[in-house]
Amino acid sequence: MIRLPFFGKNGGSPSKYVAGNLFAEGIEDNLFTEKFKGLRAMVEQKADLLQMKVLGVTSSIAGEGKTLTCAWLGKGLASTGRKKVLMVDVDVRKADLTHGVGAKRSPGLTDYLVGGNPPPQFFQATEVPNLYLVAAGVEVASPADLLAGERFKTFLKEVRTRFDMILLDTPPVLPVADTVTIRDLVDGFVVLYRAGFTPYTMFRQALEDLGEKHVLGAVLNGVEGPSDSYYQKYYGSYYLEKSKRAAAAAPPDLQGSQNT
Ligand SMILES: Nc1ncnc2c1ncn2[C@@H]1O[C@H](COP(=O)(O)OP(=O)(O)OP(=O)(O)O)[C@@H](O)[C@H]1O
Ligand SMILES: [Mg+2]
Repeated sequence: MIRLPFFGKNGGSPSKYVAGNLFAEGIEDNLFTEKFKGLRAMVEQKADLLQMKVLGVTSSIAGEGKTLTCAWLGKGLASTGRKKVLMVDVDVRKADLTHGVGAKRSPGLTDYLVGGNPPPQFFQATEVPNLYLVAAGVEVASPADLLAGERFKTFLKEVRTRFDMILLDTPPVLPVADTVTIRDLVDGFVVLYRAGFTPYTMFRQALEDLGEKHVLGAVLNGVEGPSDSYYQKYYGSYYLEKSKRAAAAAPPDLQGSQNT
């Protein structure tokens, strides 16, 4: 299990991100970004070893960091240049991934699932090279029924041939049936568990509902870190924010030059 800290907050309550700003979330926090690179490495290594291509990002309940993790993982995997990565906004009720990266809902997944050929611009490029998005699509009455249909199977079959890695941002397991509905079509799930927020029994229940063989790994998100001075003591200058590190590395005559 990998532990992700709260970025920039030391345990504060996270607020909803600004539309179009998802890739910028947490970017200033060195510890958060480094832990994410660790997660990227673990996921890539394990998925390659087990020949997994379609990964779901999920959690037991709402608000545990699924969408943020999906976007950061997608960005991380794509930016090594080794993989062409597709993110799919399967949480069509909320479409947070779609909004978070600044895309329109349509054309998207549900447009394809209700019938017809994939329209132009179905695979949308993102600001990150090698990273693409299938947006959520139009709102539909019963997403679980659509996801259970033949067309979703066909969709996954098709994207497996076009991309090296496919990340599905899914709804939480317990409140709605969508994620359990597609579990046999997904090679493995990364399951978020938000520390101090989600009852442990709910996390256990979600793992049980997904089935052990479907779980690639768990991520403990929002771990309240010790104080800044604790990290400073053990991680030294590696822990400093990028801007502070640059300032610390500058020649003495440039440091605090505004005061001279
Ligand atoms: N480690 C973290 N540090 C700080 N903020 C975080 C962290 N993880 C998630 N957040 C914030 O928490 C909020 C909820 O995260 P996110 O939308 O990714 O969760 P979710 O599981 O996808 O929620 P939902 O179930 O509603 O789709 C967002 O504002 C996000 O930026
Ligand atoms: Mg979400």
